[in-house]
Amino acid sequence: MRIAVFPVAGLGTRFLPATKTVPKEMLPIVDKPLIQYAVDEAIEAGCDTLVFITNRYKHAVADYFDKAYELEQKLERAGKAEQLALVRNVLPEGVRAVFVTQAEALGLGHAVLCAKPVVGNEPFAVLLPDDLIWSRGDGALKQMADHAQRTGGSAIAVQDVPRAQTGSYGIVATDSFDGQAGRIRQIVEKPKPADAPSNLAVVGRYILNPAIFDLLETTQQGAGGEIQLTDAIAQLLPLEQVDAFRFHGTRFDCGTHLGLIEATVRYALDHELLSDAARKLMQNALDEMGVVEN
Ligand code: G1P
Repeated sequence: MRIAVFPVAGLGTRFLPATKTVPKEMLPIVDKPLIQYAVDEAIEAGCDTLVFITNRYKHAVADYFDKAYELEQKLERAGKAEQLALVRNVLPEGVRAVFVTQAEALGLGHAVLCAKPVVGNEPFAVLLPDDLIWSRGDGALKQMADHAQRTGGSAIAVQDVPRAQTGSYGIVATDSFDGQAGRIRQIVEKPKPADAPSNLAVVGRYILNPAIFDLLETTQQGAGGEIQLTDAIAQLLPLEQVDAFRFHGTRFDCGTHLGLIEATVRYALDHELLSDAARKLMQNALDEMGVVEN
């Protein structure tokens, strides 16, 4: 698997006014924009071609992955080797970025279909940058890639969610589950808790075989009036093995304010240079504001 697709054409209205001019994928988590975490995870999993599905408001994402000659020259002349490495590593050597425009926001399934001309006939990954996954060992996509290589099928990241929240996710039911993975027998987009086949929710990491494209071409509008990736995957189930994969790691929903804050706290506490200071300032803030631990 060499190709990773990043659907980034959403409007990010939940984060207005911040996202009036800055795409939500460019909001920073400590020292990197959100999109960089997903990109690093894809590269770690072996991807060398990154396909961004964008729209006309997302120039900042393309600019970010473009080479910044003047900046690099300035940093080089000033002997700022560390900063230069940071700028260059946004897109390491040997990795290329491709931008595809999704003219109309017709849904996640439609966004993925836009990548078809670039992906061609190979397995590929889809990463939803809003789902930020923190892990100590291998990244979530690397874990899934290793699994998919063993099975030759598709794999979708899942985690347990409270039943009351099934309406926010794709929900799967599996035949058997060995603790880590199980073959999916049913997948439904955003079912009401009473209709949900389980509380195992899809997290935004997929490894898909290219057969999904033909199915997406005929997928009709589903939940929320959108062309859903989940509905095309449901049609793939009788044709191919699609596994639910429970990754090691913690997922933060950076599509919400609290998720963004939670991720910021976690990455600050885990940061090799900032960790101690971050811990102290969080403690100070709690003390000063009279928040008492119980
Ligand atoms: C999308 C998918 C959904 C999945 C979720 C994970 O929904 O359609 O199946 O569970 O991402 O974050 P969205 O959050 O874009 O509405």
